[in-house]
Amino acid sequence: MKSTAKTGPTIIIILGATGDLAWRKLIPAFYNLYLDKWIPHEFAIIGIGRSKLSDKEFQNHLHEGVDKNSRSGKSKKSDWDNFSPYLTYQKGHFNADSTYSDIEKRIKILEKKWKVTATKIFYLAVPPNSFEEIALKLGSSGLAKNKLQSRIVIEKPFGHDLDSAKHLNDLLHGIFDECQIYRIDHYLGKETVQNILAFRFANALFEPTWNRNYIDSVQITVSEQLGVENRGNYYETAGALRDMIQNHLLQLFCLIAMEPPVSFEADEVRNRKVDVLNAIRKIRPEEVHQNAVRGQYGAGWIQGKRVKGYRQEPDVSKTSTKETFAAVKLFIDNWRWQGVPFYLRTGKRMNETISVITIQFRPVPHQSFPAEATGNWQPNRLVLNLQPHMGIRMRFQAKRPGLKMILYPVDMQFNYNESYHTGTPEAYETLLLDIMEGDSTLFMRADQVEAAWKALMPIIDSWETNPSVNFPNYEAGMQGPEDSEALIAKDGHSWVIMPTERN
Ligand code: BG6
Repeated sequence: MKSTAKTGPTIIIILGATGDLAWRKLIPAFYNLYLDKWIPHEFAIIGIGRSKLSDKEFQNHLHEGVDKNSRSGKSKKSDWDNFSPYLTYQKGHFNADSTYSDIEKRIKILEKKWKVTATKIFYLAVPPNSFEEIALKLGSSGLAKNKLQSRIVIEKPFGHDLDSAKHLNDLLHGIFDECQIYRIDHYLGKETVQNILAFRFANALFEPTWNRNYIDSVQITVSEQLGVENRGNYYETAGALRDMIQNHLLQLFCLIAMEPPVSFEADEVRNRKVDVLNAIRKIRPEEVHQNAVRGQYGAGWIQGKRVKGYRQEPDVSKTSTKETFAAVKLFIDNWRWQGVPFYLRTGKRMNETISVITIQFRPVPHQSFPAEATGNWQPNRLVLNLQPHMGIRMRFQAKRPGLKMILYPVDMQFNYNESYHTGTPEAYETLLLDIMEGDSTLFMRADQVEAAWKALMPIIDSWETNPSVNFPNYEAGMQGPEDSEALIAKDGHSWVIMPTERN
């Protein structure tokens, strides 16, 4: 297949290549980039893992992953036969110098064959406790010394709190320049998430109303029907606040609240996001209970099936006090957003799997219609539906047909699937291509990660010092704990019923 890619010769080194991430996400994404002709001619993926595997065994394992997980479905034999030679494997321990000298040998062989210096991308698809060790070895082996042509990719969680994130940033900065470091938050690669930027900054219509004068409040909900699956070990150290709010939800929050960037240069966009994080009003320890609510699911029903409670999941303590639901109220102390509450919530084993942002506008300043016309009156609301049904809905009042003036809320709707019939790339395809092209706009910079931790530390500290005594406090399949309603009801708001394509 002829490539039309703009990227130069590239070698991807995946450390942890026999793990779930490579199998489910990375290789299917590279495979689709290959099908869509984004892969350069001179390209190779070197998988590193602790198991003993031949290249063929490694390829067969990934073939199964592609057939099960690729958005393009089961691979065609000819396509797989053309793609699979890019994949080679090398057994190695992450703490052994020999692993890195072996990687270097392989790189040299490829570069000699291609007669160029390739871009090397070291992808750490490993648990966070291996990040430091691998980064240090990449430094001491000299593999990262070409600052222009070597990059490191780090998955979340980036740190466990503010101090550990700072420590990791300092360590990485001792080896790499910031422009070589790609911290992944896969939400930023999602089509609809990127569309928030297009919606806000490619239309003149919304920006004049995008502020405290017109907007009453903002809600960001990311709810999942899934439980913790087989990730109990990790989740017991994380919880919903660290797993979702510190990264994915705060990124969405930044995209909604940021000032218009002057350009789409990586640092300009990231500067505008950091401004938002730095302007989050500090929550004092004694205010945490008024601004944050946590929950943990007990047994219940999901799609007609009985499911276990969190404490009964594998690798979870029977007395765990880890939250599987978190809701927080944040304020942004700047001119645009002063006084506008942002409500963020996320939870596992909720009634629906949906990610949605709701912008609630203020009421009209004066009601000129008679009382009988406005019985069903509701303020304007803009709903950005990120997944699973991508779309944007605007609610406004209209006159109901009839002889009397009766107002009724109606929706104007834009639906991705109706408007576009081309396949939507997976978040990892977008992000991997950006890394190959050296574009870091959609990746988190060191100061961004630290500012996000800093905003949440009072809640994290308070929850750790005062473990919840009423867990489990919501049934699987419900909308989270009752307290989360109270969090927002005391401001005269209510969580927007999650809009599916049905309502
Ligand atoms: C991950 C979290 O970062 O995001 C998971 O660790 C969560 O707990 C997942 O399930 C959600 O991602 P998505 O793309 O399915 O919304």
